[in-house]
Amino acid sequence: MTAKLQLNSDGKIKHFLSIEGFSRAILTEILDAAESYSEMATISSKKVPLLRGKTISNLFFENSTRTRTTFELAATRLSADVLNINISTSATSKGESLLDTIRNLEAMHIDMFVVRHALSGAAQFIAENCAPNISVINAGDGRHAHPTQAMLDMFTIRQHKKKFAGLVVAIVGDILHSRVARSQIQALNILGVNEVRVIAPKTLLPVNVEKLGVVPYQDMQQGLEGVDVVMMLRLQRERMNSALLPSENEYFKCFGLTQEKLKFARPDAIVMHPGPINRGIEIESSVADGEQSVILQQVSNGVAIRMAIMALAMQSGG
Ligand code: CP
Repeated sequence: MTAKLQLNSDGKIKHFLSIEGFSRAILTEILDAAESYSEMATISSKKVPLLRGKTISNLFFENSTRTRTTFELAATRLSADVLNINISTSATSKGESLLDTIRNLEAMHIDMFVVRHALSGAAQFIAENCAPNISVINAGDGRHAHPTQAMLDMFTIRQHKKKFAGLVVAIVGDILHSRVARSQIQALNILGVNEVRVIAPKTLLPVNVEKLGVVPYQDMQQGLEGVDVVMMLRLQRERMNSALLPSENEYFKCFGLTQEKLKFARPDAIVMHPGPINRGIEIESSVADGEQSVILQQVSNGVAIRMAIMALAMQSGG
């Protein structure tokens, strides 16, 4: 369903709601387009007139630092007009429905919605119900998907490792509640890595996790053995409705990434984290700020990837 909704009749990106359903060719097209936007960021004139005259509305119903600001910067660099809706001061707080908010913004001739919402499926709901000329980009919905985060992660991996074939990637932490992990697993498998591992306590792994295309581990030494990329995740406390862990100290002892545990991975392994990071809970400061960390490069790459996705979606007649 999402797959059909995401592409227009020419097979081009119309909405970007989930990695699922996109081909390797389309994901590679996004990575290649982001390459040129990334080079642009190093020159003094960072703007292109590609989306001049278009209006993009950022609708963030959940908090964000990285995603919202990099979407805004990306839209500005493409010369679009940006409308940031402050949900906490909008009429949503007076009981206006999501659909009525969308209808009112449509009346202002918006061309694209960038949506973050606590409910899984919110971005798809908007895509199914908005005017046909509008594109919708999912900036994170519940525990379902965070596809632009996964794409900037893929871009960062390609920068360092050059190709996906042959790579062993470990995703560590709260897989159960993570929309980032779901999107990363899909992207890594579509792009053809050798193996995706997930390392977590059993209480933080979905039932039948193997069906997602991963090999599960509950031990850091075994799971990190020989990996090329270590992707750390935050404990998603806001989505936990029962006590799934004995304590944060215990969690850090078993699953926190320390210099000592990182030695189990390949010596040239890169360390990633989508942010926000909780130092001393899932990652030690000396690793987060260390030589193998590419965490801030991920943030920089968020601008280029989001420029690429917005440009491709609008150029397809969105
Ligand atoms: N990675 C990520 O989604 O961060 P924000 O919540 O700050 O946007």
